[in-house]
Amino acid sequence: MSTKILLVTGGAGFIGTNFVRHVLTERPNWRIVNLDALTYAGNLVNFQDLAPDPAARHRFVHGAIQDSALLEQLFTEESFDAVVHFAAESHVDRSILGPEAFVETNVVGTFRLLEASLNNWKRKDKPEHFCFLHISTDEVYGSLGAEGYFTEESPYDPSSPYSATKAGSDHLVRAYFRTFGLPAIITNCSNNFGPYQFPEKLIPLMILNVMEDKPLPVYGDGKYVRDWLYVIDHCDGLVRVLEQGKPGETYNVGSGEELQNIEVVHLLCNLLDARLQKPKSKSSRRLIQFVSDRPGHDRRYAIDASKIKRELGWGPAHDFEEALAATVDWYLHNLDWVELVRSGEYRKWIEINYGDR
Ligand code: NAD
Ligand code: DAU
Repeated sequence: MSTKILLVTGGAGFIGTNFVRHVLTERPNWRIVNLDALTYAGNLVNFQDLAPDPAARHRFVHGAIQDSALLEQLFTEESFDAVVHFAAESHVDRSILGPEAFVETNVVGTFRLLEASLNNWKRKDKPEHFCFLHISTDEVYGSLGAEGYFTEESPYDPSSPYSATKAGSDHLVRAYFRTFGLPAIITNCSNNFGPYQFPEKLIPLMILNVMEDKPLPVYGDGKYVRDWLYVIDHCDGLVRVLEQGKPGETYNVGSGEELQNIEVVHLLCNLLDARLQKPKSKSSRRLIQFVSDRPGHDRRYAIDASKIKRELGWGPAHDFEEALAATVDWYLHNLDWVELVRSGEYRKWIEINYGDR
């Protein structure tokens, strides 16, 4: 198995954490430099249970991807085989209430990271094996009606400031491949769920609200559809892309598990009611409240993942309902983690986003 040194950005966030942990276990010859600004969404506590690593396979660096001087220093100190770019502002609702941070990190940050990667790649005589892997989202394609799927050829049509800035970053990455030849790959993935997801997103928010007997705020009619992928399956797909993906290509990643939001909430209520031994009369479903809709809310996302299946042999290995149950159990067994990440800032967010709905 070949040795690799990765620069992982945003490796202390939800998917980044799972990716770092997955790689440390599954690829013993790989080393990771994890650059993260530790915004509200990033938490170093995610790694505190890992055994001390004598070979220092995980080096954490606290800093922002917009910091060109820091990037220059890292590219000089280390010899990266790949950049795996997760760092982003990632929550749609936050992008509606405060879009500027999204432009700063998702667009300007990606631009600075591309510049640093390109300069370094040229300095090293353009090694063919180098890969800039940009982790993007299916939201760049906008919304589907009742029929059809997003393919890699679907036109970009983003609806929120979040997806617009992710679309902008995708365009920059593609331009650096076409114009300068920087070996880059883009993945566009559907909704992830699993351990370490910040409890502002649908699934962990609903789990914690059920546990605390708080209202379950379902936006609009609750019939918005998402394609749900267990985060470990996404991480496995990214490792395959790093090992076998072709520069200049885009790969859509998704599970085909399409569910309406209300169906997801019902499943979570069932799982939690069983675990918390709630009597039928106290079913958590009574907590569901239909609240005012998200502006610009995309009706349906659905991924055609046949390209990554065909070309790289990837498919989700986890059953959706089992993975959802494992996720519920992870939150039930990690209440210390929940307490740590729910700072005063988190409580402020809950007030701002849900106060007027
Ligand atoms: P997240 O919000 O949980 O984590 C983002 C991480 O990036 C945090 O650790 C944060 O501290 C860090 N960060 C933010 N700004 C930074 C900056 N300027 N410099 C350095 N670090 C910074 O996000 P996530 O859900 O783990 O998503 C990771 C990536 O995957 C994002 O690019 C997102 O667009 C993409 N994605 C997410 C999903 C999903 O369902 N969560 C699906 C498809 C694609
Ligand atoms: O599709 C990939 C995207 O999935 C990623 O690019 C984003 O980073 C990630 O946050 C996620 O975006 P969504 O907006 O789909 O995820 P979220 O968990 O915020 O919402 C999922 C659905 O649930 C969406 O239709 C809105 C709805 N929702 C969400 C919240 C937080 C509610 O009904 N109530 C809520 O309180």
